[in-house]
Amino acid sequence: MDTFGNPKIKSGEIEEAMDFCLNQVINNLPKFTYKFQNAYSVDGFYQEIDNTDWTCGFWTGELWLSYEWALEHERTDEANKLHEAAKIQVESFYQRIKNKVAVDHHDMGFLYTPSCVAAYKLTKDERAKEAAIMAADQLITRFHGVGNFIQAWGSMDEPENYRLIIDCLLNLPLLYWATEVTGDNKYRDIAQKHIQTAVDNVIREDYSTWHTFYFDINTGKPSHGSTCQGYQDGSAWARGQAWGVYGMACAYRYTREEEYIEKFDGVLQYFLNHLPQDLIPYWDLEFTDGDQQPKDSSSASIVACGLLEMAKYVSDEKAAEYMAIAGCLLKSLYDNYQVKDVNKSNGLVLHSTYSNHSPYNTCNHYGVDECNSWGDYFYMEALTRMSKDWNQYW
Ligand code: GLY
Repeated sequence: MDTFGNPKIKSGEIEEAMDFCLNQVINNLPKFTYKFQNAYSVDGFYQEIDNTDWTCGFWTGELWLSYEWALEHERTDEANKLHEAAKIQVESFYQRIKNKVAVDHHDMGFLYTPSCVAAYKLTKDERAKEAAIMAADQLITRFHGVGNFIQAWGSMDEPENYRLIIDCLLNLPLLYWATEVTGDNKYRDIAQKHIQTAVDNVIREDYSTWHTFYFDINTGKPSHGSTCQGYQDGSAWARGQAWGVYGMACAYRYTREEEYIEKFDGVLQYFLNHLPQDLIPYWDLEFTDGDQQPKDSSSASIVACGLLEMAKYVSDEKAAEYMAIAGCLLKSLYDNYQVKDVNKSNGLVLHSTYSNHSPYNTCNHYGVDECNSWGDYFYMEALTRMSKDWNQYW
């Protein structure tokens, strides 16, 4: 993408945006301390749920990002409040993994990285560390040596579930962290095998990506790609592509495989080349302005995080380009997508799409053109990354 002509977010705007996010998170504490945010808002407002969905870690992650911001800006009372609430949520995550409540899937990283790994990194909370290691142990039970991948959903012996999904790349930093803190290489070895299998199969020749990819249950041989949440099998689901961008940045961070730089860039360019005028994608990259389809603003925030992570490992010139693009994405999110009126929403970023049913996909229909929990979280993460050399949770 040529960033010429596209405004970038300015440091004063980052400050304003983070102050808004912090205030909104604080306002939400009475509702979401002993309860969690639903994955998506309804008419702009999140409802309370128990800690049972794959998305519950994002709200706790927002508490930690807000805590960091409050501490740095000497808002000590607010930092203390956030810390207290986050600790209550970490205990909930401890109980969830200990009692194996709704953990029969691969999203242990999405759940435990922004909640418990963050808690351990920021406050040396040993109970959070224990919870996150249990979550890593749970995640590796889903690894198939026949095919070398972590199975996303469903029971492990069903041919119709013998598949990985691109989103899983963000579950893997939990495994690298587990190896780092335990000294046991089994977590890292499984992550590395999964990454290579994913890279070899979900990225198509033109660098668009499959959402899900199947393997033969008897031989492990790659079988075929398909979509669940994208418009149709051959299209590129915007968020899948975004998970691919951030996922490849994380993969490079942990493996330093040269091949992944090229894959990162290819998947990124495909995403950028399919952006509409205001740089925020429609829910599937097949669509553009005039198609009257909903947007997925969360994809832009996820890609901004991937760009800012990858900028650490490339030449100065390339890093400047990646940071400039991230700045443009964030400027558009800040100007046109961030919630401005707290009477209209208790979230942070509008116009995301969770699950948009089409005649050609297999997902249910909910959370369309709403806030969603990861969209809010990754917006805050991207702003945080812009504001300092962030000690990342992932
Ligand atoms: N990981 C599921 C989603 O992005 O909707």
